[in-house]
Amino acid sequence: MKVLKRGEFNFRRGYIVYPRLVVVVGVKLEDKINFMSVVWNSPLSFDPPLYGVSIAPKRYTHDMLLTAMEFSISFFPYEMAEVVEKFGTVSGREVDKVKEFGIELLEPAALDVPIPAGAYAVLECEYFDHKLYGDHTWIVGEIQAIHYDERVTGSRYNMPVLDFDRARPVLYGGSGEYITVDPRSIRKLR
Ligand SMILES: Cc1cc2nc3c(=O)[nH]c(=O)nc-3n(C[C@H](O)[C@H](O)[C@H](O)COP(=O)(O)O)c2cc1C
Repeated sequence: MKVLKRGEFNFRRGYIVYPRLVVVVGVKLEDKINFMSVVWNSPLSFDPPLYGVSIAPKRYTHDMLLTAMEFSISFFPYEMAEVVEKFGTVSGREVDKVKEFGIELLEPAALDVPIPAGAYAVLECEYFDHKLYGDHTWIVGEIQAIHYDERVTGSRYNMPVLDFDRARPVLYGGSGEYITVDPRSIRKLR
């Protein structure tokens, strides 16, 4: 194993922890709706149901979200990687991403957050907490509703789970590269 010590690695150029599942954060503030891609994200707690996203303060979405105090987290299929790339390379400061990228919006169920069509799952989150870590703010949301596409999900113990034979998640590999999972690689060990 080779070693790179602090000062020798630069994660902006290449990041050994990739690929990771990329999500899209959506916010609505007054009449303005914006979406941004977020690869630094994680589920945090079953009860209450919490999900965290790491957003740099310079992103337009950052202050929008901390003002709106609610947001959506969308999970897109691999086929929609181009949309994820666009959400993550264009700023809502300059472009109306909903209009420009032809995003269709569905009705939210619990909060006033944007629900994009085409995602296989969307979480409606109410602001729970936030803290600045280095150059990103870790923002935690409490999930108030989940939307899921019945055409591509199955059921496990009566809860929706993604059916990999019908849709595959989009993962980010860095530097504009996207990848997905291969259902043939599943090993059922339990
Ligand atoms: C695949 C992908 C993942 C990204 N992940 C993050 C992330 O985790 N956190 C972040 O602050 N920016 C991330 N970005 C960058 C923002 O999505 C990008 O700067 C976006 O244009 C911000 O939009 P906004 O200015 O409308 O908020 C990512 C970009 C891409 C393409």
